[in-house]
Amino acid sequence: MEVRRGDKFTLGLELPTDPRWADIAKEHTRGILVDHAYCEQKAASSCISLIVQHPDREKLVEVLAPIVAEEWSHFERVLQELKKRGYGLGPQRKDEYVEALIKLVRKGGSRDQQLVEKLLLNALIEARSCERFRVLWKQIDDPELSEFYYELMVSEAGHYKTFLHLAMEYMDKDSVLVRWHEWLAEEAEIMRGLEMRGDRIH
Ligand SMILES: [Fe+2]
Ligand SMILES: [Fe+2]
Repeated sequence: MEVRRGDKFTLGLELPTDPRWADIAKEHTRGILVDHAYCEQKAASSCISLIVQHPDREKLVEVLAPIVAEEWSHFERVLQELKKRGYGLGPQRKDEYVEALIKLVRKGGSRDQQLVEKLLLNALIEARSCERFRVLWKQIDDPELSEFYYELMVSEAGHYKTFLHLAMEYMDKDSVLVRWHEWLAEEAEIMRGLEMRGDRIH
């Protein structure tokens, strides 16, 4: 997969996470874990929605069905990490990052174009989550949690590639990459505009 800037750790993302974020996040283990749990829930829900909206697309159903299970297992594992520390799940927080990204989804066009938009949206959230998990893996002091984030970083990197490859099933590769780079530029703008919070994954 060719991604701009060729850095396997930035996954083509244009704006690396501010290193200060990890320092703040370290002080908000509960907040980070709660927000993270909902990220996993949303990832599973998003795959389920894609499957039920596109039951006629065999490849999509085949590829996304196991990802639903994987994301849900991530959700359960985050719950365990919360429990170990004496915390419950608690209510979902406002997800300004994803809300801003969803506004960028282009309306109209063919059914394939609409599907590609959604697949790229998912790819982008996976890529940014992967990048954030990498920061947590490297910086978090708790060795168990650090290992957990290493494992999830690897898993989300796989999902990011899966979504991009899937998009290329429904649109030619060059067009997908052109749109992907537009998404990357817009995502960087969103990241720049968001307040840096230690109790949010994004
Ligand atoms: Fe996940
Ligand atoms: Fe994922």
